[in-house]
Amino acid sequence: MQFTYQNPTLIEFGQQSISKINTLIEKSERVLVLYGGGSIKKNGVYDQVKEALDGYAWFEFGGVEPNPTKEKLDEAIAYGRSNEVSFILAVGGGSVIDGAKYVANAFYYEGDGWDLLEGKYNATKALKIGAVLTLAATGSESNTGSVITKKETKEKRFFHSAFSYPQFAIMDPDVLKSLDDRQLSNGLIDSFVHTCEQYLTQPHGALAQDYYAEGILRGLIELAHSYDKKDDLWYANLMWLANQALNGLIGVGVPQDWATHFIGHELSGLYGIDHARTLAIIQPNLLTILANEKQEKLMQMGKNVFGMQALTPFEVIEEIRNLYASLNVDLKLSSYTDDKEVISKVTNLLEKHGFTHFGDRGSIDKSVVEKILEKSI
Ligand code: NZQ
Ligand code: ZN
Repeated sequence: MQFTYQNPTLIEFGQQSISKINTLIEKSERVLVLYGGGSIKKNGVYDQVKEALDGYAWFEFGGVEPNPTKEKLDEAIAYGRSNEVSFILAVGGGSVIDGAKYVANAFYYEGDGWDLLEGKYNATKALKIGAVLTLAATGSESNTGSVITKKETKEKRFFHSAFSYPQFAIMDPDVLKSLDDRQLSNGLIDSFVHTCEQYLTQPHGALAQDYYAEGILRGLIELAHSYDKKDDLWYANLMWLANQALNGLIGVGVPQDWATHFIGHELSGLYGIDHARTLAIIQPNLLTILANEKQEKLMQMGKNVFGMQALTPFEVIEEIRNLYASLNVDLKLSSYTDDKEVISKVTNLLEKHGFTHFGDRGSIDKSVVEKILEKSI
């Protein structure tokens, strides 16, 4: 175990917390409010933000898509520059917050913002970011990740930057109540897989990381089981569990995998499939193919997370599959696309993006991806 850990995002958690925005942003800032397709105008979040920004010089840019595109975000950059904004307030789910990170990091750069995604540019100066979270899933509200799609080439890539930590994240669980079943189950699954990517690797003996990850997984399973009895605490638990799954804490000093995510990102880029659904399709098949090298952690998960006395890792994988199926998620790729060339398209893109040997042991190469995808179709 050897690591440096700092998470500077201030979390303002609880009902009615949106009104606290005006205690968190200096009055002198010129604020660009970034949002998505308009859900915030229907559920009252926009009005709360507007009220809290009374007295500020602020501007708004809407229309950021799920799986946000650099093309749309470049428009936001131009708009923000023309209004000389100094602070970006993301009001939305992972897509809007990731979009704000792209805008913030590319804002003072004269080149193409996509260079961030290709590792050709690292920001030395950026806009300050704040987040009002409306969808619990990605943890983007207090991490450095940002996943952006280039519509032109159908590529979905990610970048990290120290400037991408929001200064604050406002997390009012009541705002989750307007989410439909599809987005709520996406949130449960994405958080579950984030935890697995940092847990289902190899034995390492780092107890805090292992047992905390198991606690998060158990919490998410409990929420899935009580899905039909959602009360205020259910939403609060989802919001906090999703945050804890990917705020960096459980991954410090331990091996991490992320192979399910890397394959999933290519599927979202190519076919626009919801991020969490790509994970639900890929992960059980990836675990099946890699059951041998992951068997110790899978057996540990069976015992400590599912409370089962499994005899083989495959029984544990079946529990994971059943969990996703219980959330009414279609687990076959063919339900989302009938493209006959899906396997070669994904493997070509992975190669282009530098993923030739990945997973926590570096054992996933093109032939392993082909096997995983064959099982997933
Ligand atoms: O666009 P609007 O109108 O806001 O509607 C959104 C969108 O259609 C809607 N929504 C959000 N909050 C709502 C709501 N509808 C009703 N009530 C609310 N309170 O939900 C839809 C999906 O929103 P989106 O932001 O796309 O979902 P999510 O938070 O799951 O974000 C997914 C994106 O995050 C990336 C994914 O790849 C994907 O692009 N990820 C980001 C990560 C990170 N930054 O660390 C890690 C993740 O693994 C993931 O890759
Ligand atoms: Zn994810």
